[in-house]
Amino acid sequence: MATLSSTSCRSYATPLSPSSSSSSSSSHAPPPPSIYGHHHRRIALSSIPKRFCSAKVSSRFRGKCFTSAIHMQDGAVAPALVKNETPFKELTEGLVSATSSEETKVAAEFLNNNGSTVSITVVGASGDLAKKKIFPALFALYYEDCLPEHFTIFGYARTKMTDEELRNMISRTLTCRIDKRENCGEKMDQFLKRCFYHSGQYDSQDNFVQLDKKLKEHEGGRVSNRLFYLSIPPNIFIEAVRCASLSASSGNGWTRVIVEKPFGRDSESSAALTKALKQYLEEDQIFRIDHYLGKELVENLSVLRFSNLIFEPLWSRQYIRNVQLIFSEDFGTEGRGGYFDHYGIIRDIMQNHLLQMLALFAMETPVSLDAEDIRNEKVKVLRSMRPLSLEDVVVGQYKSHTKGGITYPAYTDDNTVPKDSLTPTFAAAALFIDNARWDGVPFLMKAGKALHNKMTEIRVQFRHVPGNLYNRNIGTDLDQATNELVIRVQPDEAIYLKINNKVPGLGMRLDRSNLNLHYAARYSKEIPDAYERLLLDAIEGERRLFIRSDELDAAWSLFTPVLNELEEKKMIPEYYPHGSRGPVGAHYLAARYKVRWGDLGMEQ
Ligand code: BG6
Repeated sequence: MATLSSTSCRSYATPLSPSSSSSSSSSHAPPPPSIYGHHHRRIALSSIPKRFCSAKVSSRFRGKCFTSAIHMQDGAVAPALVKNETPFKELTEGLVSATSSEETKVAAEFLNNNGSTVSITVVGASGDLAKKKIFPALFALYYEDCLPEHFTIFGYARTKMTDEELRNMISRTLTCRIDKRENCGEKMDQFLKRCFYHSGQYDSQDNFVQLDKKLKEHEGGRVSNRLFYLSIPPNIFIEAVRCASLSASSGNGWTRVIVEKPFGRDSESSAALTKALKQYLEEDQIFRIDHYLGKELVENLSVLRFSNLIFEPLWSRQYIRNVQLIFSEDFGTEGRGGYFDHYGIIRDIMQNHLLQMLALFAMETPVSLDAEDIRNEKVKVLRSMRPLSLEDVVVGQYKSHTKGGITYPAYTDDNTVPKDSLTPTFAAAALFIDNARWDGVPFLMKAGKALHNKMTEIRVQFRHVPGNLYNRNIGTDLDQATNELVIRVQPDEAIYLKINNKVPGLGMRLDRSNLNLHYAARYSKEIPDAYERLLLDAIEGERRLFIRSDELDAAWSLFTPVLNELEEKKMIPEYYPHGSRGPVGAHYLAARYKVRWGDLGMEQ
């Protein structure tokens, strides 16, 4: 693969057209028209941090390559750097068209090896998310050589801990890639040596000043780029952002902040949170994470649609009868009841994870693969949706159930949940997109905890074949046996299409079979965790998979009215046994729109 940098950890196996592969060195050829070519070029260069710049790079390139200093309240701004980050496209085009191949090589070397460092501070380092997801993802990136040469990781939390204790804590959850495992122990030791700890309060500027000092020591005078990952409860977000921005933002590089949901509880609180964050951060410094966007099959949705001729023409009300977005977990709140009870399943899963998948599924073709173009399309589709109404929602809550001599607890048995809680642990909803493409197509969502299985999938049920010969002649009810495309996001990733097929033999009997792309069988490489992709994107300044504030507003507008109504009317949830398939109300809701949930069929 022809790339400017041979160190990119992101490999792109799609074969390139001859024009695209030659253009990366000295050719002045325009970017290839295919989306692969475009994407490839972006990624091929992506291991080169945007902010570095070689003095040898031509003047057209120079002056564009430093990313913006962060305009923090304390005026900690890098001296006269460009106001906004150079769009990566411009940077790469600058490199490709304005430099000789020798200059390009020098620039790439410089960009990779010199002048800057990335410090990643995990705020809330002793929490569950940090231990289970963030540190392991950082290690996986390190293991795959995806982190820049100069980087430091800091854990920040209130707990008193030494560097060594943090390392011990982290090391318990680190694992090496199943498909590699070479030098695993060695790599782990090297990684842990680059992890440090700072104990402090989340609302103490002084404590962040001390952190800043330590960060500077590690940065050793290089251009400092700082990423803060806020893995803390929402009530202390703002204070932590205030302190980090005023006391520990970079003086001469970029500062970015990753925030985890919940982003508010409704439109009003979400807007207030955004407003407060923007007192201290520019929108493009805020990386709102929805980890479902980092999942492999969700990332693949656009590829499936926009790079295969066979799907896109069918992607509308003309051929699609309904779309189902299904999330189920086979465990309850288990210790997270305190958080969960304040939010419920609609806010926890539907308003973000399922809605994000829906937006990617239903959006129009973006102008390009650039973050803003994609997010513009997502916002448009969200804004075309009808706010959810109460009659289109079913809510449930799991109750205790005994099976095989084991008693599984009810939601309200969780010590952190009030005994009279009405918070839904299950919900089903019918949503509609009032635009030309999707008018009248029900988008059904279903999400629940303590159900019979753990699964996330998108199911697309197509209309029946009009005047189907086999319906008339053989008597098979092909209207029921509709074509269905299933995108199984997890576990055991797969994309399969259910078709009607002739059973081999001299007779004429039809059955339903699957054209099956089963990832484990097709690809030997282990699928990276969503957090790896998202952390790498944040380090590279790629915003495509993060939620923009207008997207968030649009998402809340759809759910806020019904959430208010459910709470005001104190709607009693339908109780379902722990480990069951959820409340029957979900079937009635689907039936109202002449839909059968695809995950309940005999053959799935
Ligand atoms: C989180 C929710 O966002 O996603 C949890 O808060 C849920 O309640 C989790 O369990 C599911 O994520 P995953 O990646 O395990 O499907």
